[in-house]
Amino acid sequence: MTRRLALAAALALPMAAPALAQTQITIQHPLPLNSHYGAGATALKEAFERAAGARYNVVIQRNDNEREAIESVQIGTIECVITSTGPVGNFVPETRNLDVPFLFRDTAHARGVLDSEIGQTMLGRFSARGLAGVVWMENGFRHLTNSRREVNTPADVRGLKVRTMENQVHMRAFSTLGALPTPMAFSELVPALQQGTVDGQENPIPVIVANNLNQVQRYLTLTGHVYSPAILICNPAMLARMTAADRAAFMEAAKAGAAANRARVTSDEQSGVEELRRRGMTVVTQVDSAAFQTALAAAFTEYERTLDGALLRRIREWR
Ligand code: PAF
Repeated sequence: MTRRLALAAALALPMAAPALAQTQITIQHPLPLNSHYGAGATALKEAFERAAGARYNVVIQRNDNEREAIESVQIGTIECVITSTGPVGNFVPETRNLDVPFLFRDTAHARGVLDSEIGQTMLGRFSARGLAGVVWMENGFRHLTNSRREVNTPADVRGLKVRTMENQVHMRAFSTLGALPTPMAFSELVPALQQGTVDGQENPIPVIVANNLNQVQRYLTLTGHVYSPAILICNPAMLARMTAADRAAFMEAAKAGAAANRARVTSDEQSGVEELRRRGMTVVTQVDSAAFQTALAAAFTEYERTLDGALLRRIREWR
């Protein structure tokens, strides 16, 4: 073909549409898709993709090692993570205040504080650690399970090997009760329970249900010993690269994610205990919460000294 013919042929070809640049946002979280975190991530994805059109693709992945996922967000190999505050204190120490046992009276108190200036100021602390705290989500009130015995009183906890999160505040509480706290990532929990490395663990009802922990644990006591906040953390450089309009849409989508996540926790907590009984767990529902708080006195004294005592008081007194 002569050069002139080739040019004519090329001009006759229909122009290929320019490829649409699509930015991927990967959100990791440690639970099955059909869980309260999955509900939050999915609602965020749907809301953001609807608002930002085809320019963004939100990919949801499971990673049940929360500390590792936070590190990945910090170095920018993934964009966002939904995590409990369990390991977050190792990055942003101020959040440890939220992990104090029996700090929140109930769910309304916890959600109210996190949505108030107290929680929003705490989100602002993440930027000094190379992270962006985007929105508070929720894991729920944590309860104790084990394979050895019914736990009715604080004395029954003595001697139990209990897996805790990698969280100093929680570990101190369990050692004060006379348990042997064994910190490990959630990814290691089921094998540790199967092999008897630990006797028990503590997690909210939605986690126990979604992960079938009833298959490796016989006894559940509704201790509600600590509220477990969750949080959406993102890579700050990723947010900075967005246009102001896209960033605003992302923040709105994150709020929709938090609302879906909280709604799912509420409904899982309503149906979960019956479901776990149906699956064969022995459930202790009558718990003397005051007795547990009395048994934790030494730990509370230490929290006042090593954490932010004034902030703890403000949170307790929040109405
Ligand atoms: O127990 C934990 O590590 C956390 O509660 C979990 C299950 C990963 C959810 O954040």
